[in-house]
Amino acid sequence: MSKVFVLEHPLIQHKLAILRNQRTSVKEFRELVSEIAGLMCYEATRNLPTREVEVQTPVATAKCRMLAGKKLAIIPILRAGLGMVDSMVDMIPSAKIGHIGLYRDPETHMPVEYYCKLPDDIGNRRVFVVDPMLATGGSAVAAIDFLKSHGCKHIVMMNIIGCPEGVAAVQKAHPDVDIYLAAMDEKLNEHAYIVPGLGDAGDRIFGTK
Ligand code: PRP
Ligand code: URA
Repeated sequence: MSKVFVLEHPLIQHKLAILRNQRTSVKEFRELVSEIAGLMCYEATRNLPTREVEVQTPVATAKCRMLAGKKLAIIPILRAGLGMVDSMVDMIPSAKIGHIGLYRDPETHMPVEYYCKLPDDIGNRRVFVVDPMLATGGSAVAAIDFLKSHGCKHIVMMNIIGCPEGVAAVQKAHPDVDIYLAAMDEKLNEHAYIVPGLGDAGDRIFGTK
């Protein structure tokens, strides 16, 4: 069974409190999504393999560690996942980026695919799927299905807010995928929105409502 990590770091929780506030502006919301993603990235990459290297400093030779193993890819689920990409890339500049475009049908709440483009060598990369919201889990499960159909074997899911329904859906469909959250909220409402959540993440990032 996959593991769920709720990142209770005070900086993440402080920024999340501002993010949830309905009065937070689009500009500030976008900045906060990016900042929280950067902090989450730090935790979600904690177990990446490293190898020892020797570095010549101005004083002596130092035994250091650098990232080893598979190269990385960051895969935002469009649209809202785009808000988490820049700060991830700041931390991992060599990562490639793929895009999975999904929107939820307003009636059925099922994900509808409209655009997908992955790096050619995605099957050889360790993948971080990013999306602020894990609600029913339909979008996350569909994105992971797609990545696995392209040969991906090491996939981690990063969401800012999740809920029990979404986590259960991902764990059932993809028990090998660990999930990193900044918060595990209470439940979904009748419109499949997370309660208390933060509303529609895509609209709040892009100012579309
Ligand atoms: C939101 C969010 C997730 C999805 C989560 O996207 O960014 O992708 O809903 O819901 P789920 O777990 O029930 O699938 P949305 O479909 O609103 O599209 P948008 O990012 O383009 O606004
Ligand atoms: N998508 C969002 O943006 N917010 C929710 O609460 C659920 C799905």
